[in-house]
Amino acid sequence: MSIPTGPAGPLRFPRDFGWGAATSAYQIEGAAKEDGRGESVWDTFSRVPGRTRNGDTGDVAADHYHRYAEDLDLMRDLGLRSYRFSISWPRVQPDGTGAPNQRGLDFYRRLLDGLHERGIAPMATLFHWDLPQALQDAGGWESRDTAHRFADYADAVFTALGDRVPVWLTINEPKTVVQNGYLMGHHAPGRQDPDAAYLVAHHLQLAHGLAVRALRAGNGTGRIGPALNLHPCYPTDDSPEATAAARLYDGYENRLYLDSLLKGSYPQDVLADLGPQSRMVRGIRDDDLAVISSPVDLLAVQYYTPIYVTADGSTEHRWPTSEAGWQQIYPDGMYDILTRVTRDYGPIPLTVTENGLPTPDTLTGDDTVDDSGRITFLRDHLTAAHRAISAGVPLESFHVWSMLDNFEWDEGYDQRWGLVYVDYATQRRVLKRSAHWYRSVIAEGGF
Ligand code: NOJ
Repeated sequence: MSIPTGPAGPLRFPRDFGWGAATSAYQIEGAAKEDGRGESVWDTFSRVPGRTRNGDTGDVAADHYHRYAEDLDLMRDLGLRSYRFSISWPRVQPDGTGAPNQRGLDFYRRLLDGLHERGIAPMATLFHWDLPQALQDAGGWESRDTAHRFADYADAVFTALGDRVPVWLTINEPKTVVQNGYLMGHHAPGRQDPDAAYLVAHHLQLAHGLAVRALRAGNGTGRIGPALNLHPCYPTDDSPEATAAARLYDGYENRLYLDSLLKGSYPQDVLADLGPQSRMVRGIRDDDLAVISSPVDLLAVQYYTPIYVTADGSTEHRWPTSEAGWQQIYPDGMYDILTRVTRDYGPIPLTVTENGLPTPDTLTGDDTVDDSGRITFLRDHLTAAHRAISAGVPLESFHVWSMLDNFEWDEGYDQRWGLVYVDYATQRRVLKRSAHWYRSVIAEGGF
């Protein structure tokens, strides 16, 4: 692949590059009780006092369920070519099983029609953390049955919407459910149980594979793949101890998911570290890895931060930290993770489905939001992505997280990640400076 890049000249992306932005259902839709939607684990979790900042919930969020047409117009105005959103399982199956709720599906049909009318390619995530509460009550992702329920739900969505979706993503960031939901407990369902956590990892991977098989067996014609948040893990020094610690860290952060999905095996060092008596290792059945590694059409990568690992296996920060305390700003990590995936797993088509940061955005009297920090961040990360393309990485598209300010999970509405500012008191949308900048990047094919 040859892309013209002068050392000091402008960066030009491939002509058909999929410039995009991303959101997820619970974070933007609101309308929590409308049209037969059921409860999800995030409805439950966010209502428990102390679980989210300011007690925020997704009940109203950015009210996208009612304002989707206006939001689609904004996407068209920016020139987006790709829009990544998620389908809410409890809108489609309020209790997580059984006949689909037509009114829930209709919303996504309207959304898809609106995207098609505006010439924007949809990319639909099937699961972005809003597990129906009824399935959580039955054991949630600790129960193997939930993986089968997910495949049934996916099949219902493929049947209803399969003619309109060119790219499906199965499970958004399984690792975040494992780590934040089951290890640290600051996401739903709020558990702190390592033994449960890795069994959950296995069942999420299994659910992914079963959904891939459902698409292949059914009527859907689109491409499908997983959406993984990957973290390049670097040792803090070149001692053998730090190198070994970073390697094992990488096993838990990256290879646990990549190897099982793309090579059909779990990394031996991680399995050995978990031990033969762990619930995960005992929970792996004969055919599972064949299901998990069912061939996919693309891999979606979400990159936010590197991790620096010390000799004793703890972590430290090396680079400036964003408003999200866990995020170090390190654009070269984008290059490292994209080239590493291509090197280690072969030339599978890649899409970046999330990259972005929260900035302290305020709306000024003349209706502007000066988020120059976001422009710098995106410019630097896109430059790194461009370098990866030049090095031969088959990167098709890039989605900014996020299209709109939204409900940032346990951080509530205080962190603003959008290209578009949402004034929650009025639900008015205002393009931030970064949105104007991104529009010109898309128009020019680079910067
Ligand atoms: C990853 C998640 O997929 C998304 O829901 C979240 O808002 C962003 N990271 C930022 O933390």
